[in-house]
Amino acid sequence: MLKIAVIHGPNLNLLGTREPEVYGTMTLAEINEAIGDKATELGLEVKIAQYNSEGEIITALHQAAQWADGVVINPGAYTHYSYAIRDALAATGLPAVEVHLSNIHAREDFRRTSVTAPACHGVITGFGALGYLLALESFAQKGEVV
Ligand code: DQA
Repeated sequence: MLKIAVIHGPNLNLLGTREPEVYGTMTLAEINEAIGDKATELGLEVKIAQYNSEGEIITALHQAAQWADGVVINPGAYTHYSYAIRDALAATGLPAVEVHLSNIHAREDFRRTSVTAPACHGVITGFGALGYLLALESFAQKGEVV
């Protein structure tokens, strides 16, 4: 059974009330429940966590390298400037899928750049919570991310 680390970045704990016109009304708990249900359906094992600080995300990635087969990550605003998270993603050597609830290319200029994406196999952006489920599908389809 493939093991996937799902990592939510800063401010995503506020989903549901945080700018619902941008991020929707689902809470993080509801999204995590949907992720858990999808993982069960696909026969994947997921461990889900949310961190507000860069260091915690980096530590979680280091730990994932010890047990996970892949990573699904929404680095939040760190997407746009954290070379440290990009390096940690590369260091894990794990296939990773970057997910954004909103379409980062249809928003402010600074959001159009992802410095973390080059260390990922793919990016899913703009499909709301469905993005996380599509990311899980990508692992399940081939038993790995190509
Ligand atoms: C986000 C997009 C980022 O620009 C923003 O800082 C977030 C959420 C998204 O899921 O759409 O915190 O990653």
